[in-house]
Amino acid sequence: MLRYFCLLAVVLVGAKSASAPWIKPCQLSDNACVLASANAIVPFMAPGIPEWNMKSLDPMKMDIVKSEQSGLKLTFRNTVVDGMKGCKVDGIKVNKGKQQLLIRCDVTLSGNYTLTGQLLIFPVEGEGPYTLSIRDIVIKVVANIETVDGPDGKPHWSITSWKHNYNIKTSTVFHFSNLFNGNKVLADPVSKFMNDNWREVMDEVAGPIVYAIVSNTVDSVKAFYAAVPSSELHIA
Ligand SMILES: *[C@@H]1O[C@H](CO)[C@@H](O)[C@H](O)[C@H]1NC(C)=O
Repeated sequence: MLRYFCLLAVVLVGAKSASAPWIKPCQLSDNACVLASANAIVPFMAPGIPEWNMKSLDPMKMDIVKSEQSGLKLTFRNTVVDGMKGCKVDGIKVNKGKQQLLIRCDVTLSGNYTLTGQLLIFPVEGEGPYTLSIRDIVIKVVANIETVDGPDGKPHWSITSWKHNYNIKTSTVFHFSNLFNGNKVLADPVSKFMNDNWREVMDEVAGPIVYAIVSNTVDSVKAFYAAVPSSELHIA
C-alpha cells in the first residue's frame, strides 16, 4: 500500500523523466511537490508494469497467508486484494538515506479461508469463501536506502531494509461463508460478534495480512527503483 515509490516522483513544472512522462521529479526538499507527485504516480503503479518487473498491486494476488495467534489458526488462500489504486499518500519524506511514507487505503480482500481455534471468547471453525473490507487503513513504511550502480551504469536507489506499522481508522467488515459448516445457529452470533468487535479481531488476525500487502508493494517499489535511475526521480 504503500506506494511509496511515490516518494520519488514529484512535480516541478516542466521537469520529467526520460523513462515515463508520469514521473515528475521534484527537489527532495520541496515536500509539497514530493507529496503531489507521489499521489499522481499511484494510479500508474497500481496496475503493474511488466516491462519493469512490477506486478499488479490492484488487483493484488496472494496465494496463501497464514495467521496463527492466541490459539486461533486462520489461513487465506487465493486471495485477491482490490482497491489499492485509490490509496492516498498522506505524508512523505524522501532523502537519499531514508524514505518514509504514510498512506491511507480502502481495500477489499476476497478468497477462501479456513479458520479453527479460539476467537477471543468463541471457539470457531469454518472453511469456505470470505471477504474482508477494510476502510481507512493507514500504513507507515520506513525504508533504508542505498544508492548503487545499475546495469545501465547509472546510480539507482535500492531499498536495503524496511519496517512498517498500521492503524485501521474506520472499520472492517467480515463475511466468512460457511462458518461451522453452515450451521446458522452457531455461525450467526459469531459473525455478529466479529463485526461488532472488528478492531479486537483485527488485532488478532491482521498482522500477516497487512505484512503481505506491504511486502508486495515494497517489491514493486524495488523493481521501480531498479528500472529508473535515481537522477530521473528527483532534481539534484
Ligand atoms: C474456493 O474453494 C472452492 C471449493 O474448493 C473452489 O471451487 C473455488 O474456486 C475457490 N475459490 C478461490 C478464489 O480459490
